Amino acid sequence: MAERDVAAVLSALVVARRPGSYAYVGDDGRVDPSRCLAVIVESEGRTAVVDLDHAVELGLEPAFAAAWITIEAETALDAVGLTAAVATALADAGIACNVLAGLHHDHLLVPDAEADRAVQVLEALRGSHRPGRAVAPDRRARSGRAVRLRDKTEAGFDAWLPVHTADYIAQRVGAGEDEQVARRTSETQHAVTFPGGRPAAGHHVMDVLDDGEVVGTLWMGPPFNGDGDTWFVFKVEIDEGFRGRGLGRAAMEAAEDWTRTRGGSRIALNVFGPNAAARSLYGSLGYEVASIGMHKDL
Ligand SMILES: CC(C)(COP(=O)(O)OP(=O)(O)OC[C@H]1O[C@@H](n2cnc3c(N)ncnc32)[C@H](O)[C@@H]1OP(=O)(O)O)[C@@H](O)C(=O)NCCC(=O)NCCS
Repeated sequence: MAERDVAAVLSALVVARRPGSYAYVGDDGRVDPSRCLAVIVESEGRTAVVDLDHAVELGLEPAFAAAWITIEAETALDAVGLTAAVATALADAGIACNVLAGLHHDHLLVPDAEADRAVQVLEALRGSHRPGRAVAPDRRARSGRAVRLRDKTEAGFDAWLPVHTADYIAQRVGAGEDEQVARRTSETQHAVTFPGGRPAAGHHVMDVLDDGEVVGTLWMGPPFNGDGDTWFVFKVEIDEGFRGRGLGRAAMEAAEDWTRTRGGSRIALNVFGPNAAARSLYGSLGYEVASIGMHKDL
């Protein structure tokens, strides 16, 4: 049966690439109907989607040379939000996408050269959605705000540091570390990142501002491994009363812009295993797992 719960489709998203390449062409009457996969009739004329070989045979210049990706689940034509969710994910990755809906499936036509990356982006959408949770039609529109970043004042930093330190130790303990060890780790790291109680060179502990209001904190800095192309997200936090409105996502997008303007080409971060919300956020933004620490209590 056709699925209406878009979150259910996304949480189990399976996509398949049709073999071959496809072309959008203007149909001047020569297109063989049996080779035609879709037709759009407009007052200016007919647009046909055909396999690329047929366009070449007819000498028709493709307006868009595409790979064809099908969403395997049967989706209802009146399901709300699926097209927006997949198109937004692809747009966020800089991949153009034209959507065709059939009675059974949705089909995404993406630039031929981007096919593999598009499949990866779509597969990353799975796992970032849980059945029953509402799907935002457009995540940027849902937050409705582009957040701004501003270095904390000295007083703001001084107020934040002890709260952050306690939270960091609690997260390490929550992930299974002995409390004394967690305290020592925190002290050792802060000696590098906050010598003398102030941010070291390159470290920026910033307020996240939404319409001028402080809604959270983003701490960016150089990674410990010294990779000059990478900036590290040491912490992203949205204040409790502001969570669940798209601001965490907006803050991470702002972190990307911040990194790009400094010539960085990669963002890295660590996340503790039990932090499901943060892991889901990063996964949905396209972060890939670099390593996984494991332990077993005996
Ligand atoms: C992680 C955090 C920054 C997310 O901020 P937020 O503003 O609530 O997040 P958003 O509203 O932008 O949601 C973005 C995505 O985060 C994930 N997410 C947010 N809350 C979640 C929850 N309670 N459960 C599961 N996933 C969740 C989802 O993937 C969500 O995308 P979706 O709504 O499209 O499903 C926030 O929960 C937080 O500040 N946590 C405490 C600090 C922390 O753990 N920081 C990360 C490690 S340094």
